[in-house]
Amino acid sequence: MRRWQGDGIYFGGDYNPEQWPEQTWSEDVELMRRAGVNLVSVGIFSWALLEPTPGRFEFGWLDRVLDLLHDGGIQVDLATATASPPPWLARAHPETLPRRADGAILWPGGRQAYCPSSPVFRERSLELVRAVAGRYAEHPAVVMWHVSNELGCHNVHCYCDVSAEAFRGWLRERYGDLGRLNDAWGTAFWSQRYGDWAEINPPRTAPTFANPTQQLDFLRFSSDEQRAQLRAEREVLRTLVRQPVTTNFMIGLGVKHMDYHSWAHDVDLVSNDHYLNAADPQGHLGLALAADHTRGVADGEPWLLMEHSTSAVNWQPRNVAKLPGQLRRNSLAHVARGADGVLFFQWRASRAGAEKFHSALVPHAGPDTKVFREVCRLGADLKALAEVRGSRVDADVAILFDWEAWWGVELDSHPSVDVTYADRLNALYGALWRAGVTADIVHPSTDLSGYRLVLAPTLYLVRDADVEALRRYVEGGGIAAVTYFSGIVDANDHIRLGGYPGAFRELLGVRTEEFFPLREGEQVRLDDGSTADVWTEWLHTEGAEVLASYTDGPLPGVPALTRHPVGDGAAWYVGTRLDEPATDRLVARLVDEAGVRPAAPAPTGVEVVRRRDGERTWLFVLNHTDAEVRLPATGVELLTGTPCAGELTVPAGEVAVVREDRADTSAVKEVP
Ligand code: GAL
Repeated sequence: MRRWQGDGIYFGGDYNPEQWPEQTWSEDVELMRRAGVNLVSVGIFSWALLEPTPGRFEFGWLDRVLDLLHDGGIQVDLATATASPPPWLARAHPETLPRRADGAILWPGGRQAYCPSSPVFRERSLELVRAVAGRYAEHPAVVMWHVSNELGCHNVHCYCDVSAEAFRGWLRERYGDLGRLNDAWGTAFWSQRYGDWAEINPPRTAPTFANPTQQLDFLRFSSDEQRAQLRAEREVLRTLVRQPVTTNFMIGLGVKHMDYHSWAHDVDLVSNDHYLNAADPQGHLGLALAADHTRGVADGEPWLLMEHSTSAVNWQPRNVAKLPGQLRRNSLAHVARGADGVLFFQWRASRAGAEKFHSALVPHAGPDTKVFREVCRLGADLKALAEVRGSRVDADVAILFDWEAWWGVELDSHPSVDVTYADRLNALYGALWRAGVTADIVHPSTDLSGYRLVLAPTLYLVRDADVEALRRYVEGGGIAAVTYFSGIVDANDHIRLGGYPGAFRELLGVRTEEFFPLREGEQVRLDDGSTADVWTEWLHTEGAEVLASYTDGPLPGVPALTRHPVGDGAAWYVGTRLDEPATDRLVARLVDEAGVRPAAPAPTGVEVVRRRDGERTWLFVLNHTDAEVRLPATGVELLTGTPCAGELTVPAGEVAVVREDRADTSAVKEVP
């Protein structure tokens, strides 16, 4: 791993000077300096300009841009520029175009119109990387390399013949012989047995449900193919440049198909793009979850927010703009949760193209605007927070997350379409957020020993080693909670026999003999006053104590919530979809049993997160409510926010960041 360079928090965004006449460039640099911008990503979509015809490179404009930025003191995250191939590639090599499952070709004219398994694309793109890296390896402005852009965003699944051949190669690697593949895919079912590798295809549009393990393996293969592009570009860069290499992940956007856990060690630093759902009044919870998950993928290390938006985007059905203060609140929420840099898409709002209505640091209306003023304020804030860089985030709770479990649980032909991967994750996360408790979202293979509480929402597909690690964790005194439709299958998507929840049965001390999914809109009640919907199951306890049972619905009297003492710890099972108040109560009990405390006491709607570097700690206080809050506080030094003696005053919608005197006691004392 190569370390990031420089000091302080990075601030800036995607800079696409090729969209503008050169006269604009000096004004850009002047405005960047005014705003406190110190890092821009350059050249992401510039392949067609850098290589206008095959093999002929034109670097003059990029030379001038990089020199200008360097003269202005702005550092550069330089793109390998492979994100979208130029039109000449598809013309010369139509076989590089991706195909959908039904055979339809995805044509150039948008972006990312390439088959991820295409050897032609790989070769041409690496040639470009060699040319760009060779030319700019020593450029003094360049502090970081940006591989491609959001790999897999539009072209993750390609079903063309080239992909089919690559898929077969991937399967040969995985299974070695056809017999093992037939076993893994359960091809005794529906006469699917393969007698020759050439008979195997990607799961193209079929008359009915395609083989689930074929689908799962195709998802694994597709993530691996995108990862292979990252690794191939990185290998070229490693031989030519010395700066750290990253690529922007899309954790938390509902982007399902890249297993970033497996990609994390291919980059020197994890960077992520996050776009707030501004139409959702609870959008800041989604932001917090994405940031906590990015930190989990980064193994708790600081990470870089590569893109977010100053205000509206252009790709939601109704692109709600950010209200005054929201840009700052969103940005500092990412920093609170471990980002050491806050970048945006993009520097200057485009005047042409599909993203011309997307907000930017410099809007169409120019710098005399609410957005640019807020950008300048944020620049000053981030400068004041320089000392936070490199610190980590305090979290006593882990939530287990696995892309493969997500893929598995949302395959077709399952007991209920209402069981989705995000549902219980969001529910448990929301309850923790409301309780002021910070969680790391981590892969099940993570070392859990440092956590007081571990939550496993809908961990449908789980490996034996991870189940065993969770058991050891509980035995050693940990508190864990598992929600329904977890532990159901192995890595081949084969049912774990003997009763549900399969892999977790013993740990949880329960055995379910049959699922009883509920009808749309149907609710059930529990004898502790809770209501639930979507899911019930015919559960027997085998060592667990019953905390609540159904009073109505298909299974009156059957346990719904259980707790199993194991060793020095306990494992809870949540067999139904509790509503929000019941989930809040459940999480309060778990947090209490585990001895987890919030970062600092604060009223509802006030987000408090602590970053720590050895003995030094910083408290981020974000007021999402529409009323001012005053928190009694001693021993703090305010880095950004409204100063006030003896208490911390955070006006509605504002943020305060304080350095605490003593790491062992919270500076913020009690709920006022
Ligand atoms: C990202 C992408 C950017 C831009 C942005 C708009 O997905 O990386 O290039 O398209 O979205 O929100």
